[in-house]
Amino acid sequence: DWNMPDYISEAVEKIRAQVGKDEVILGLSGGVDSSVAAALIHRAIGDQLTCVFVDHGLLRLDEGKMVMDMFAKNLGVKVIRIDAEAQFMGHLAGVTDPEQKRKIIGREFVEVFQVESGKLTSAKWLAQGTIYPDVIESAGKGKKGQTIKSHHNVGGLPDTMKLQLLEPLRELFKDEVRKLGVALGLPHDMVYRHPFPGPGLGVRILGEVKKEYADLLRRADAIFIEELRNTPYEFVTGQAVDEEQLPKNWYEATSQAFAVFLPVKSVGVMGDGRTYEYVVALRAVQTQDFMTAHWAHLPHALLGKVSNRIINEVRGINRVVYDISGKPPATIEWE
Ligand code: XMP
Repeated sequence: DWNMPDYISEAVEKIRAQVGKDEVILGLSGGVDSSVAAALIHRAIGDQLTCVFVDHGLLRLDEGKMVMDMFAKNLGVKVIRIDAEAQFMGHLAGVTDPEQKRKIIGREFVEVFQVESGKLTSAKWLAQGTIYPDVIESAGKGKKGQTIKSHHNVGGLPDTMKLQLLEPLRELFKDEVRKLGVALGLPHDMVYRHPFPGPGLGVRILGEVKKEYADLLRRADAIFIEELRNTPYEFVTGQAVDEEQLPKNWYEATSQAFAVFLPVKSVGVMGDGRTYEYVVALRAVQTQDFMTAHWAHLPHALLGKVSNRIINEVRGINRVVYDISGKPPATIEWE
């Protein structure tokens, strides 16, 4: 247990002592860890920090704008936004294998980040939002045998750049990182968001990734998330929960929730006409550690509303299904 203002001033002092007058680069992903790291480092050294935000075109609806508003506009952080959508889509064209897609997205991400940060020749430090569980996980690599999926994060930079690593969150657990983020002025909803995979919508569009699919999926997903946030959580009798800890809405009551794009067309009717359009699957899970998970028993009225809204508002989708598979044997993501 620690006192937040004291913690922040200590962390700020430590960063200042570490980097002195040097310039620092940070890869901003929009995720909690890199965002909190950016806010903390900016508090410590202001304009000596430059963030590079690579938009791979596989982010959620308005995410790029949200990141720019939050950091560049509200906090006054120097952020370079790279619109790499066309480049990513180009490399993903024709690729259907999930692991191959992950590899391409991971590789391109590092490539774009390296090119951009290579332009910041005066930088001496590379900052990363590494948190304590990441440190533990990488220390244990190899012991667990086969990795099920290759998770990617921003990789290192070429040795020739000789950047030193700045990792101010290395000793913190996720809940501490979140509290720190709120104390640094990041919006509560941003800091308490569900996790989002590095390859983004790339693993939520089954098979080949296309911009057209990503655009449809983003809109369906945003409707689902909006309704989860707007629907009060219902207390289910008999559930052993602490009243104080009771989630306020269904977004808080689930650990991860999202829409998945299925490139399958099915027949529907609209007015006098017949439609032949794509399917969206909704996935919502509850879990402690993401290693095992239950599908969330969302209220039928909520599911019905989300389905109606998606079908009415997202032209191109005429069928919505709900995923009722647990992990194991299913995984949380569909790819
Ligand atoms: P699965 O689908 O394996 O997901 O049950 C477990 C958790 O990991 C996230 N996930 C990823 N995160 N890169 C990431 O950064 C990835 O390639 C990746 N694949 C899955 C997933 O969203 C869930 O939280």
